[in-house]
Amino acid sequence: MSGVVRGEARPHRDVVSFVRRSARMNPSQERAWRLHRGAYLVDVARGPMSTSVAPQDPLDWSEIFGRTAPLLVEIGAGNGDSLVATAAAHPDVDVIGFEVFEPSIASTVGKLSARGLRNARVVLADGVQGLRWLVAPESLDAVHAFFPDPWHKARHHKRRLVSAETCSLVWQRLRPGGLFRVATDWEDYALAMREVLDASELTAVHVGWAPRFEERPMTKYEARGIAAGRSVYELCYRR
Ligand SMILES: C[S@@+](CC[C@H](N)C(=O)[O-])C[C@H]1O[C@@H](n2cnc3c(N)ncnc32)[C@H](O)[C@@H]1O
Repeated sequence: MSGVVRGEARPHRDVVSFVRRSARMNPSQERAWRLHRGAYLVDVARGPMSTSVAPQDPLDWSEIFGRTAPLLVEIGAGNGDSLVATAAAHPDVDVIGFEVFEPSIASTVGKLSARGLRNARVVLADGVQGLRWLVAPESLDAVHAFFPDPWHKARHHKRRLVSAETCSLVWQRLRPGGLFRVATDWEDYALAMREVLDASELTAVHVGWAPRFEERPMTKYEARGIAAGRSVYELCYRR
């Protein structure tokens, strides 16, 4: 990842799990962004950066979706393949995707619109801040984080999304019985995830690694890992 959003000041900020990239869209993303973001993108009060969220009361998701339904959050939804599959498979569930890269959100809203799905929304925001400020405690049925950026170098491990702090926040936002599912194709990150999850208030659903979450479609990140000879590790924890 390289580049930053030009012209944006660089105030002091928390360590985050991403580097802001210049957000050039391809023609189909531009079209989806222009035509469909109004239907799917939830605008939020910002903190100092374009992907940060100002401290605020949680959003009223029942009002946003026009109904009260179980809520699921995906952090780092990328191009939306898992998010769209989840929303399509569970019309009775409302799905919120947090993603920091605008072109990926454009792809996601294009796919949601093409499938005619109305039970999903996306927020251009750091998912950790989104969970903290936009989602009420004990309000989520599930949180997904699939193939988060691995941040290989030891000095970058503090940027990893699945950390002790994130696990604690996820625990607070899940309702009792709610599930946190993660997947990665990097063994050292998988082991680190398992360590912080085991040390958290969450409880492992499986002994050892979880079986493949059948609903999760193969995304380019998983395919790339498998093509390079890596295994995929999944974990599922319950509040
Ligand atoms: C390796 S990609 C995986 C995308 C998708 N989950 C998949 O499996 O195809 C990681 C994604 O997470 C996004 N991301 C990284 N940190 C994030 C954060 N704190 N909040 C929201 N999105 C984040 C990146 O922009 C990128 O789209």
